[in-house]
Amino acid sequence: MYVLGVETSCDETSVSIVKDGKEVLSNEVLSQIDIHKEYGGVVPEIASREHIKGITFVFDKAIRDAGIGFDDIDLIAVTEGPGLIGSLLIGVNAAKTISLNYHIPIIGVHHITGHIYASNIENDMQFPLIALVVSGGHTELILMKEHFSFEKLGETQDDAVGEAYDKVARVLGLPYPGGPVVDKLSRQGIDKYHFPRPMIDTDDFNFSFSGLKSHVINLHHNMIQRNEHINAPDFCRSFQEAVTDVLVRKTIKAKEKYEVKQIVVAGGVAANSGLREKMRSSIQDIPVYFPKMAYCTDNAAMIAVAGYFKYLKQKKYDDLMLNGSSRLKMDEGEL
Ligand code: KG4
Ligand code: ZN
Repeated sequence: MYVLGVETSCDETSVSIVKDGKEVLSNEVLSQIDIHKEYGGVVPEIASREHIKGITFVFDKAIRDAGIGFDDIDLIAVTEGPGLIGSLLIGVNAAKTISLNYHIPIIGVHHITGHIYASNIENDMQFPLIALVVSGGHTELILMKEHFSFEKLGETQDDAVGEAYDKVARVLGLPYPGGPVVDKLSRQGIDKYHFPRPMIDTDDFNFSFSGLKSHVINLHHNMIQRNEHINAPDFCRSFQEAVTDVLVRKTIKAKEKYEVKQIVVAGGVAANSGLREKMRSSIQDIPVYFPKMAYCTDNAAMIAVAGYFKYLKQKKYDDLMLNGSSRLKMDEGEL
C-alpha cells in the first residue's frame, strides 16, 4: 500500500511516499527556518504564504523521487491539526485537491500520532509501549496497548519542553530555533547552577517547565545587572540536565507501572543529545527507540506511517469535508 503523507502544520512543507507503513520511498522537506530566524520565531502569516509557494514543487519532487505516479497512490494522509491554522489549511487543501483529482481516498492525521509513528520506520512497534512526546508544542507521556490506541498518562501543565528551550535560547541571545543550539553549547558546559527539577517526584505523570524557564531567565537577568560574566555553555548544560532528569525519571516511572516492552521518544526534542544519552544509560532492560534525526522534526513520512496504521485500525476514510483544526484534541483511543 502506497501512502502519500502531507505535513504543513508549522514551518516545514513536507510530502512523502511510504510503502506499507515502513519503507520511505521519498520524504521531501522544505524548511522555512532561515526565513523565520530573522524574527526569532515562526510568523504564522509568513509560514502559510511560504507553504503556498512551495507545496506544488514538494508534491512533484516527492512523487518523482519515489519513482511512482499519482495513480499508484492508495491513500493520502494529511496532518489535520494541531498547528497553525493558515499553515494546516494549505496542506489539507492541497491533499484534498489531489484526492479529488486522482480519486484517491484521504485520511486526516493528528500531528502527534505522526511523531509517535516515526519510530515505526526503523523499528517495529511492540506493545504495550510508552511514548514520550517532546516537541515545540507538546510534552506528553502516552501509553499504547496496541496499534492506534493512545492513553494519555500525563502532560505539561504549562510550557512544552521545546518551547522552554527556545525561550531560554532567546534570553541567552542564541538564534532560533534554540533547542539545537542550547543542546550543542551544553556539550561544552557543566551543570554549575543545578536548577530545580520541577515535579520530578510527584505521583502523577505530568510536567511543568515554565518555573524552570523563569528560574534560568531570572538568574541570567540578575547576573547581567551585577555585571557578572555569563558562561552560556554552563547555563545551557545546567538547563539541559534539569530538563532531561525530569523527562527520564517520569518515563522510568511509567515504564515500571505499565510493564511495557519498549519506550519510544518522539518529537523535535527527541533530537536532543543529552536526552538520548541519559535515556539510554538509565533504561537498559527494554529497548529505547529514538527516530533518526530527519524523522524527529516535522516531516511527512511520519504522517504517512500514522495514516497507514490509522486506516488499518479504523478501516474508514475521511471525506472532502476534512478540514484543518488548530487545536485538534486528543481523544482517547485516537489522538
Ligand atoms: O516536533 P517539532 O519539529 O515541531 C513541533 O511540532 O513543535 O519540534 C520543534 C522543537 C523546537 O522547539 C526545537 O527547539 C526543538 O524541537 N528541538 C530541540 C532539538 N532539536 C529540535 N530541542 C532540544 N534539543 C535539540 N537537539
Ligand atoms: Zn511536530
